[in-house]
Amino acid sequence: MPPYDRKHPFLARLTQRYALTQPESNKQIMHAVVDLSGSELTYCCGDSLGIYVENEPSEVSALLDAAGLSAEIPVSTAQNPQARPLREVLTSNVDIGTPGPGFIRLLWQHAAHAQQAAELQQWLEGPPEALKAWIASKTYTSLLAEYPVRLEAQALASHLRRLQPRLYSIASSPTQSPHQADLTISVLRYTVDEQPRIGVASTYLSERCPLNAPVLPVFIAPSSFRLPENDDATMIMIGPGTGVAPFMGFLKERQARKASGLNWLFFGEQQRKYDFIYESTLVELQKSGVLTHLDTAFSRDQAHKIYVQHRMQAASERLWDWIHHQKAYLYVCGDAKRMAPDVQNTLLSIFNEKLGPDNATQYLKSLKEQNRYQRDVY
Ligand SMILES: Cc1cc2nc3c(=O)[nH]c(=O)nc-3n(C[C@H](O)[C@H](O)[C@H](O)COP(=O)(O)OP(=O)(O)OC[C@H]3O[C@@H](n4cnc5c(N)ncnc54)[C@H](O)[C@@H]3O)c2cc1C
Ligand SMILES: NC(=O)c1ccc[n+]([C@@H]2O[C@H](COP(=O)([O-])OP(=O)(O)OC[C@H]3O[C@@H](n4cnc5c(N)ncnc54)[C@H](OP(=O)(O)O)[C@@H]3O)[C@@H](O)[C@H]2O)c1
Repeated sequence: MPPYDRKHPFLARLTQRYALTQPESNKQIMHAVVDLSGSELTYCCGDSLGIYVENEPSEVSALLDAAGLSAEIPVSTAQNPQARPLREVLTSNVDIGTPGPGFIRLLWQHAAHAQQAAELQQWLEGPPEALKAWIASKTYTSLLAEYPVRLEAQALASHLRRLQPRLYSIASSPTQSPHQADLTISVLRYTVDEQPRIGVASTYLSERCPLNAPVLPVFIAPSSFRLPENDDATMIMIGPGTGVAPFMGFLKERQARKASGLNWLFFGEQQRKYDFIYESTLVELQKSGVLTHLDTAFSRDQAHKIYVQHRMQAASERLWDWIHHQKAYLYVCGDAKRMAPDVQNTLLSIFNEKLGPDNATQYLKSLKEQNRYQRDVY
């Protein structure tokens, strides 16, 4: 049996996928089940599943058209030296979504008209932030349409960066489901300059990946985000949106182990009616006594935003008791840019109230050192 890893992924089967959000929701969050049987892959709570995906076929065709290249021309890449048809390479091996300054340079080098070369040169020699912002509104296809150049198929394939695997927190328990990894996937669809854009992996997993076929290359991405070793330990989990995924695994694992430690979950989404993902499972976990407290924050159910950190602030006395007196383990998972810093500031303000400003930061630091404050944010 080969030891499967990032460089040698296992071809798993996607066996189930269904929407967790309601059709009326502003977003689409899917539950997906990946069958790992036959791989001898094992995972721990807190680990992620790494997945290699394929680009959207119509985006590949649009790029071939814009570049004026035949789909059949054989090309190779640094990682795949054996030549294969350009369409296959554009589908499976390279990132066709996000151009960088290097592509602008390539267009400039091959520019067909002096006017276009001058324009591109101006961007390249201007402030890097302006170049970055300009490129953010472009795709390879739109740039090639705007600045048509004659590129060799091999030059295009060699220029494009490798399509990176995506990571998804495993939402199942290794004790309950050792041969399957459950995932919680937020499907990315947005617009830039009124043009629709999609997330490669989230749409592949939610729509394009064939079901029940051994075609999904996966590996386990280990994490340091870990359950307390002691099953009696108290846990506080803060996981809005898809941040709840690892905590579904944590709670199911504690249920399977009959762990006696108390568990408190803060979950947030936009609208209770449409976005309360895993509601029935969470209610069951509450009824069975595994989930001691559940605090929810539905941000768009009222005129002003209510987020998980507002619920934490409102419950600050109990939070302090759990953290300080019961030596709770604190976990935060989900959005790195906005949520995680805001949650940390709320924790600091609670510690500040109890200990004064000089000691709050030190207290948080000591929680980290004891592994009692762990974050898995992206
Ligand atoms: C450890 C870890 C665990 C993770 N766990 C999960 C999980 O459990 N569930 C989950 O859904 N995701 C999770 N992610 C994120 C996941 O790996 C992917 O990054 C995510 O699904 C998007 O991938 P994609 O291929 O669909 O999108 P991509 O094709 O990679 O596109 C993403 C890019 O699109 C751009 N973008 C996105 N939205 C907008 C917007 N509104 N406006 C302009 N540009 C935008 C940004 O540049 C962004 O980087 C995790 C990430 C890490 C690192
Ligand atoms: N690049 C982007 O523009 C973009 C946009 C969205 C998500 N994402 C990423 O997509 C991934 C998954 O997102 P998701 O859809 O699962 O969840 P999410 O976007 O994190 O939303 C979950 C909940 O968190 C709320 N929220 C927003 N800002 C918050 C804050 N500062 N503090 C606490 N809660 C806050 C949201 O409210 P409201 O939506 O009502 O504000 C929503 O109720 C994350 O990695 C996230 O970073 C990226």
